[in-house]
Amino acid sequence: MYSKPKTMPELASMYTKMYRDRVSGKYFGKCPFCHGDIASFSADEKNGTFFCYACGAGGNRYDFLERIGAVRQTPPQRGKDPVLLRMYADAAFFYYQQLTTRGNIGNQYLKKRGITEEEMAEYGLGFAPDAFCCLYDSLKSRYEYSDLIRSGLFKISKKGNVYDLFRNRVMFPIMDENGDVIAFGGRVMDDTKPKYINSPDSQLFSKRTRLYGYPYKAERRSEAIIICEGYMDYIALHSAGYQDCAAVLGTALTEEHVRLIASHYKKVYLSMDSDGAGINATKKSIGLLKAAGLPVRVLDFRPYKDPDEFLRSNPYGVDAFHKRVEQALPACQFLARHASDIGELAGILARQVP
Ligand code: UTP
Ligand code: MN
Repeated sequence: MYSKPKTMPELASMYTKMYRDRVSGKYFGKCPFCHGDIASFSADEKNGTFFCYACGAGGNRYDFLERIGAVRQTPPQRGKDPVLLRMYADAAFFYYQQLTTRGNIGNQYLKKRGITEEEMAEYGLGFAPDAFCCLYDSLKSRYEYSDLIRSGLFKISKKGNVYDLFRNRVMFPIMDENGDVIAFGGRVMDDTKPKYINSPDSQLFSKRTRLYGYPYKAERRSEAIIICEGYMDYIALHSAGYQDCAAVLGTALTEEHVRLIASHYKKVYLSMDSDGAGINATKKSIGLLKAAGLPVRVLDFRPYKDPDEFLRSNPYGVDAFHKRVEQALPACQFLARHASDIGELAGILARQVP
């Protein structure tokens, strides 16, 4: 099924030259973590462990791969790793093929949520089957083991078996400014937790700097961008005709996001969930956007939870949404309305946030 797990010395020798000591039977080499000049690193075939007496790094194969993955995530070169880019493109294609196979349950789920076949193609959506390692099996003949491991698309069990990170989920590819896939989000189709998982940060991707669907290369832009919270919200907004919108990826808005937004837009509409967590995220985001000099308005789509639910709630969803955009509250009014106590309110009034 999946390739036989390598022994600890075999694994280590993919990253550093190893020599076998005839007396102890252990393998030695220069440490791939601290890069010292002496053979301070040893790998034990029998116990499946490694240890470096120079830097103290040690553990089992799983620890080794985790560590080497972390080391590899910030290589010195500036461009994106072409092998990983190709692998993510192949993975996106694999997931898309699954979704567009007759009778696919992910396809049925997305249709139930109002997403058409055209939209599945437009956004490159996909489906990760409910199996242990089918993506791994489809890629393993075309990629080096070490590249597969550091991609972030797989995990390694305690026994050393490689398995797919995304299983039984509908898949949302996350693209960069060139339209290349650099990460994925995956959603379960029932109430299982966690509802969404995202690719871990990698050489290609960091969620602090990326926004899902951000229009990096738009030919025409409006003055304002709508920032929402989720994949489904982005798709609903974009399909309703809002080209200038993007979604955060399971984090709050960061300073890096704000810098990106400020380089293309003059105004921001915040469109977070209408629950308590969404209100708090909105408050925090207002602070960051204001600090960058961007005027902010806040959308209110109660009684619905989020823009997706609002837009799909009735046949006039889109027109009603346009009205909500026109009626969006200036940030200071939003803050005043949601001030948690009189002190916070006094602070807002004193600062007169525009
Ligand atoms: P929500 O829970 O508000 O989901 O998470 P949603 O976007 O409305 O999703 P649907 O409509 O139920 O499908 C908002 C965003 O937060 C991140 C995802 O990016 C999601 O789109 N999130 C949420 C996670 O990263 N992990 C989670 O477990 C839940
Ligand atoms: Mn939703």
